[in-house]
Amino acid sequence: MIIAIDGPAATGKSTTAKGVAQQLGFIYLDTGAMYRCVTLAVLKEGVDIKNSDQLNDLLSKIDIDIKMEDGSYEIFLNSEDVSAEIRSPEVTRNVSAVSAVKEVRQAMVRHQRLIASKTDCVMEGRDIGTVVFPNAEFKFFLIADSYVRAERRRKDLQAIGEEKSIEELEEDIKRRDEYDSSREISPLKKAEDAIVIDTTYLSIDEQVSRIIEIINMKQ
Ligand code: DC
Repeated sequence: MIIAIDGPAATGKSTTAKGVAQQLGFIYLDTGAMYRCVTLAVLKEGVDIKNSDQLNDLLSKIDIDIKMEDGSYEIFLNSEDVSAEIRSPEVTRNVSAVSAVKEVRQAMVRHQRLIASKTDCVMEGRDIGTVVFPNAEFKFFLIADSYVRAERRRKDLQAIGEEKSIEELEEDIKRRDEYDSSREISPLKKAEDAIVIDTTYLSIDEQVSRIIEIINMKQ
């Protein structure tokens, strides 16, 4: 079974998806982390994303691995733990442009489908319910007020020792949503049959239980 959770940046998708997966005993896949890994590799290798030869060469060389153990979730890029590095402001600034490139999307979607073909999965991203798994059994689309989202992002950044103002973060989030929603391939968009959950005034526990209730009700 696939449970798709999509929505704009910092709406609580990752934490919610993780909680839902834990309660159901499913695996959880953060597809944004995969695009962040590619972005980190692009930046490290100095690859020009407009040069498809360079990009294809890089994509053929990178190996993204996700390890889930005892509630921890670690992302490895070519065997190196990059869980913190992929959340850096530099990666965040560049990830929308990298994830808009056709070759990158094709490679990541292939990887996502392969992972989910083996097991029940809660998958979180921007295009899961529209493109990656249009036939997912359950589709949710999370939204939240941009100020609240900026506050949440600030806390995430503080946890890795980065400091940014709410105003700057709100601007970043809006710019990224605009970019992600207006790109040509697989734009951020609510699937017609997705259930919208506004998380502005919800705690993580409430978000998780709302989704679990809907799943139990429909099954
Ligand atoms: O969820 P996040 O903020 O970590 O995602 C980082 C970026 O990756 C986001 O700005 C757009 C891109 N992304 C995407 O294009 N498709 C997905 N399924 C997930 C993320």
